[in-house]
Amino acid sequence: MKRNNYIIHFLSILLSIVTAQDKPNLVVVYTDEHNLRTIGAYRELQSKKVAEPWGDGVVVDTPNIDRLANEGSIWTSFYTVAPLCTPSRASFMTGLYPKATGAHLNHNEMYETMTTWAKVLKQRGYHTGYTGKWHLNGNEKPGWNSGKKYGFIDNKWQYNRGHWKFFEDHPTLGPQAYEWTDESEAKFAKTMDKNYVTDFLMDRGIETMQDAIDQDKPFAVMISIPDPHSPNIVRPPYNSMYQHFKYEVPMTGKAALKKKPALPGWSAISLDISEASATIKSMESDPIRHGYYANIFGMVKLIDDQVGKLFQFLENNGVSDDTIVVFTSDHGDQLGEHAKHNKGRPYETSAGVPFLMRWPNGIEAGKVINTAYTSVDFAPTILSMMGITNPNMEFHGIDGSKEVLSPNKNTDSYITKKQTRFITDSATSKWATAVRDDFKLTLSNGEPWFFDLSTDPNELHNVYTNANYTSIIEEMQSDLYDTMFQHQFPLAENDVIFFSQPSCWDSRSQISAWNKRLCNELTDIKFSPACTWRKIYEECPNACNRCCVDSPGKIFINGQLKTCNEVSEYCENKKVQNFCPVKCNACPNQRSMSTGDEEESSNLNEFEDDDLRLL
Ligand SMILES: *[C@@H]1O[C@H](CO)[C@@H](O)[C@H](O)[C@H]1NC(C)=O
Repeated sequence: MKRNNYIIHFLSILLSIVTAQDKPNLVVVYTDEHNLRTIGAYRELQSKKVAEPWGDGVVVDTPNIDRLANEGSIWTSFYTVAPLCTPSRASFMTGLYPKATGAHLNHNEMYETMTTWAKVLKQRGYHTGYTGKWHLNGNEKPGWNSGKKYGFIDNKWQYNRGHWKFFEDHPTLGPQAYEWTDESEAKFAKTMDKNYVTDFLMDRGIETMQDAIDQDKPFAVMISIPDPHSPNIVRPPYNSMYQHFKYEVPMTGKAALKKKPALPGWSAISLDISEASATIKSMESDPIRHGYYANIFGMVKLIDDQVGKLFQFLENNGVSDDTIVVFTSDHGDQLGEHAKHNKGRPYETSAGVPFLMRWPNGIEAGKVINTAYTSVDFAPTILSMMGITNPNMEFHGIDGSKEVLSPNKNTDSYITKKQTRFITDSATSKWATAVRDDFKLTLSNGEPWFFDLSTDPNELHNVYTNANYTSIIEEMQSDLYDTMFQHQFPLAENDVIFFSQPSCWDSRSQISAWNKRLCNELTDIKFSPACTWRKIYEECPNACNRCCVDSPGKIFINGQLKTCNEVSEYCENKKVQNFCPVKCNACPNQRSMSTGDEEESSNLNEFEDDDLRLL
């Protein structure tokens, strides 16, 4: 070879390296309604008691998804901004809070003017593609291959909504979707590994990547898999892999059913505690429930195998090191934790989602990111990681690229423990939440809730009134207050919200000193004498009809925070009366003034275990 040819050859290699590094590929694997404890890499970070809620060893192994954590990063405090399909997806695509996208309610249509990260990447020369569920085009079902592309050049296999189980490319009709019926099962019996939804969508996504490679272009492809959302059925052999397990009711579910402790108002269930044990027993022996869990586990296993197929493709094409692979979900699925299924609440497995990211050329292997992030942070983070710092997009989210690309495995030194992010109820206006690495504050229609996840990873105990947390709570509360107005969280539409613990507030849990009894039973003439015992009175001040103390903190009234000294004109409101019974002249039995209450309280009997048996 002549010298010139050498130089040209050398330059072209150099150029290809530079281009490759300039424009890493992106693949986002996005599942629907996915409990993060079904992923091995998350379980490894948690104690067994937390990680295996359905029983010891009742787990799915997910070696392929785990590779993203082992060879890349796992994010332990990543939440959807709204645990509901449509708003979560809108925020993930745009970096904006749900209200700004037009898609803050399920089945809303996202504003056509929205810029997505895909659109930015397309403008930078990426070949972009989307396969699977989109859910941002309104009610259409399935709604194939919409004219609204939002930056995805190849959206032939993008559909709006529906939980289809089989797809095919019909020679004359084009894309076709099928639910699981006897008919469709028979039709695809011999080709399930091609036509079942998860296999099919991964294959089409890989084809788009292949197209990009053939055109010598970088690619950005999102594969949006509608499993493991219901219907809870999956193709063989995955439907039979997890039938041998006994799926227990999670410890948090049992606690909720027994009201020991009771659920917060924003997650309440109506079940008499006397029925709790029988209910748990019948749930655990219910073959339908058993089948659901076995199939959900099977769906997860199939997803994991498809991630393995993706890795194989990237490796075969020599692009594995310079492709950013993201694995996440639109929201969680409590799967019986806290006695609930699905999503819609701020709990770790409802609003918390798996978020893993691998990029050998950019991310240190084995990185654990504990900093709180939400789906609004995805767009600014990913674009910045890909070298796009001026995308012409406005973001509500934070650019976390510095943290994920830092060479440190543990990035707590970024003072990221203090980064507060926000989650909102989107279906109703019941709650809004602020999260940090270890802490979670929820404001709601009822009393405020605060979880310390480091000591209470199962989110059982409200420690809002524990003085150790006062300053953290104040900071998080103030941030949440600002954000919920700025971004129009539905909770801000309420007239009155307790921003502090009301002093006269009954516990909803079993009375700790009196097994299987609740505060509201004390209004019964038979049980009311128990109110003369201090321990019972203290947990049930309202039911004991004696409470007459103004609450020390703040109450939110028509958009403003007020102390009890400032509420007189709002005293006709029941919640205001409850918060400030003295100022509002609303003490029980017209007894006014706190002095009387103190006297009363000093006359209470100290509690003896035997006393209650006499009632
Ligand atoms: C507050 O923290 C201290 C020190 O960790 C601990 O000893 C104490 O029990 C805590 N107080 C409460 C009410 O939990």
